[in-house]
Amino acid sequence: MSTVDDRVVEPQLSFSAERAVVDAALATFAKTYLCSIDGPVAKAVSYSMLGEGKRLRAILLLAAYRAAGGAGDASPLAAAVEVVHAYSLVHDDLPCMDDDDMRRGRPTVHRAYGIPVATAAGLAMVPLAARAATDAARALGLDDAHIGAIVRELMRASGAGGMIGGQLLDLEGEGAPLSLRGLERVHRMKTGALISASVRIGGLAALASDETLRAFERYGSAIGLAFQIADDVLDVTSTTDELGKTAGRDAALKKSTYPALLGLAGARARADRLCDEACLALREAGIASPQLESLARFVVDRRS
Ligand code: IPE
Ligand code: IPE
Ligand code: MG
Ligand code: MG
Ligand code: MG
Repeated sequence: MSTVDDRVVEPQLSFSAERAVVDAALATFAKTYLCSIDGPVAKAVSYSMLGEGKRLRAILLLAAYRAAGGAGDASPLAAAVEVVHAYSLVHDDLPCMDDDDMRRGRPTVHRAYGIPVATAAGLAMVPLAARAATDAARALGLDDAHIGAIVRELMRASGAGGMIGGQLLDLEGEGAPLSLRGLERVHRMKTGALISASVRIGGLAALASDETLRAFERYGSAIGLAFQIADDVLDVTSTTDELGKTAGRDAALKKSTYPALLGLAGARARADRLCDEACLALREAGIASPQLESLARFVVDRRS
């Protein structure tokens, strides 16, 4: 693990370089795993996972892996997490959910391939990601216990106790204003869980100590909530062009959001505090990672 003393050793994060590494791993994922599935579904999966995204979850995983002393190539593992995230977007956009036409600057998967294929593509992505995560963890030389822990973490975060459960609560909350506490729970589940798992998986893959994993958990849950608060803010303040997805969608769907409950300034202040809490969690555990710290800042300062 990098400690406060070797702080200068860690290079500054280059987002574009990190994204390129993740994109290459996603392309390899597509080549390796999509040949086993049917034509239109494979095309829809490929369209979804290769669309232009920030790759934040993958980049977080890689930064956590390095911060915990990992020296191998964790990009195939990071790609598996991105595939679970891409699946969540495919289903989030379906007419029975947020009914969105645009994602990552182009038509949503169901707009391009139809609802049945988009639904099947989303469902197909989860077991593919689990398989890829298993293969990737094995290729890093991890033992069965760590491989199991990584796949469990990924499935737990994306399941009914995490992302899926949060998505259901999010839909139930439409038109029925949630309390701040209720909304925090939804955001932590629908978005925070997978972000936090990405960080912890990076730690698990680097055989991090329990103390480091606990710090990663605190860091990940703080930035996970901050990420969705920032998403709510951007839905109000940004444009469809800039976001690559329909701006103003939350108000149109009568969603409960942080800006609706706290105002824009209040929501931004909450996100800022969470960013500080995340960095504090690392420092208190003696983890000096300028990369994880700049990722925390990025989560709240981003423009898309
Ligand atoms: C969008 O996630 C969905 C949310 C959880 C708010 P991102 O903003 O990370 O989407 P991409 O991957 O960059 O497209
Ligand atoms: C989505 O939240 C969270 C997911 C699990 C995909 P949003 O519905 O706010 O995400 P966007 O704004 O459509 O990307
Ligand atoms: Mg949604
Ligand atoms: Mg949505
Ligand atoms: Mg949103």
